[in-house]
Amino acid sequence: MKDIHSVRITVNGRLHEVDVESRRTLADVLRHDLGYTGTHLGCEHGICGACTVLVDGLAVRSCLAFGVQADGREIETVEGLESNGQLNPLQEAFSAHHALQCGFCTPGFLMLATALLREKLDPTEEEVREVMSSNLCRCTGYQGIVEAVLAAAGKNGGTEAVDSAVSQETSEDRVEGVSPLREAGDHAQ
Ligand code: FES
Ligand code: FES
Repeated sequence: MKDIHSVRITVNGRLHEVDVESRRTLADVLRHDLGYTGTHLGCEHGICGACTVLVDGLAVRSCLAFGVQADGREIETVEGLESNGQLNPLQEAFSAHHALQCGFCTPGFLMLATALLREKLDPTEEEVREVMSSNLCRCTGYQGIVEAVLAAAGKNGGTEAVDSAVSQETSEDRVEGVSPLREAGDHAQ
């Protein structure tokens, strides 16, 4: 017999109610139940960080969390970084500094870096390297990723800090355009 729970999860400012089996991971709930396929799954056992999302502002490996643990929580995924079709400064910095090749790891790095830059607007290169080392990238050699995060923090002649863009968004902006299933009307509240 399946152990099903009804949970209420806010993703990128949009509230979803969904029935989930107790053993279902948060990654699977986001990807398969709610359509946020920007969150990638690599190792599925907590090593690679590709599945990193923010839960109440903290970076979490969604393959290691259960969907039921997200009940009542605010989740942020890579889909929530852009605003009205515009990449945010961190995403622009990744593009400008060639911080991705195949791009599979990129959503996890973007969310990890978002958490870092919200906590610390002016990180040192060593701090960026230490935090970014928790995620795996098989393509870039990391130099571009580190440069991009530093650029987004306003260093190396980079772009504005991530939080300046975040703070300019209205709550309505954050709701608009962030749910892949919004058009279909699924799970909408
Ligand atoms: S897929 Fe979650 S850490 Fe690798
Ligand atoms: S860009 Fe390919 S794994 Fe990181």
